[in-house]
Amino acid sequence: MTIDNLKIPTVALGTWAWGDSGETGDGYFGSPLTRAGLEEVADKAHAAGFTLWDTAMVYGMGRSETVLGEVLKRYARSDYQLSTKFTPQAAGTSDDPVADMLEQSLARLGTDYIDLYWIHNPADVARWTPHLIPLLESGKVKHVGVSNHNLGEIEFANRILGEAGFRVEAIQNHYSLLYRSSENAGILDYCRNQGILFFAYMVLEQGALSGRYSPENPLPEGSSRAQAYNGMLSQLKALTDKLASIGQKQDAAAPDVTTAWAIAKGATPIIGVTKPNYIDGLIRASAMALSRDDIVELETLADAANVNTRGWWEQEM
Ligand SMILES: NC(=O)c1ccc[n+]([C@@H]2O[C@H](COP(=O)([O-])OP(=O)(O)OC[C@H]3O[C@@H](n4cnc5c(N)ncnc54)[C@H](OP(=O)(O)O)[C@@H]3O)[C@@H](O)[C@H]2O)c1
Repeated sequence: MTIDNLKIPTVALGTWAWGDSGETGDGYFGSPLTRAGLEEVADKAHAAGFTLWDTAMVYGMGRSETVLGEVLKRYARSDYQLSTKFTPQAAGTSDDPVADMLEQSLARLGTDYIDLYWIHNPADVARWTPHLIPLLESGKVKHVGVSNHNLGEIEFANRILGEAGFRVEAIQNHYSLLYRSSENAGILDYCRNQGILFFAYMVLEQGALSGRYSPENPLPEGSSRAQAYNGMLSQLKALTDKLASIGQKQDAAAPDVTTAWAIAKGATPIIGVTKPNYIDGLIRASAMALSRDDIVELETLADAANVNTRGWWEQEM
């Protein structure tokens, strides 16, 4: 799939957890990541054709972008695509805080353009959206999208960009089996009708839907994701067991089925990749066909888990 001239692989790669790497990591994920390990992740991803990397300044306050920029130095710039974000809450006080934050991201990522630049959240749509226009005109930003916006805010941002001859080209929202608010609010349908790409983040609920974690083997102690999910792991067991059993029939694992579900729903999942073998899962997920019955059964079990995984930064859709 493409938006205009931007190549979009079936799955995009998330690097929030990469902000944890190194001494200055903020411990959000609690995963020990090494530079050598992340280089291996990138090599496998590139060999498999997964070349779109999603990051943000606020992931480890620059750390994710810095590490990603270092790791990607081994490839030609035209061989990968970069997606990063302006976060209104971290804006500076200059005349153009969006342009400033972009310049800092460019420096950390070691590049002079961003393929897909996002307004991270709808803090003030009227104030921040117009700042994207000169960035598009200068070519420093090739495409733009909005994240965590509800339908009304998306339409508003689209009108603002439309007046300058641009448009919202992509949406990036939390969308998983456990959290389908964008679907229920009509955002997926809107995207389909308008030819806007829908990127789904936290499809694996930060590992809670990977089947790897359980009450006996919880998410890393002391991390923010442990605080969010460890209390609900027992309620997720029927769902993760079902994901595993659907996977088994196709020589795949639970997280591959979770990712395949998002693809089947018309989304481009952004999967947080922390280990090289997770790329094998993305290859399997991209090739997997889920039946209508599988999808209904998974969504029924997800609803029965009766958990709310809305992030602290998210609004109701
Ligand atoms: N726009 C926004 O507001 C926003 C918000 C959140 C995220 N995002 C973006 O979306 C990306 C994805 O979200 P996320 O990283 O928070 O969560 P996620 O993709 O739901 O989960 C990532 C975690 O799942 C585990 N995992 C991944 N693949 C696996 C596999 N094949 N098998 C077993 N476990 C697997 C890993 O945990 P372990 O390391 O413990 O193995 C990994 O850290 C982020 O990195 C970021 O780029 C955007």
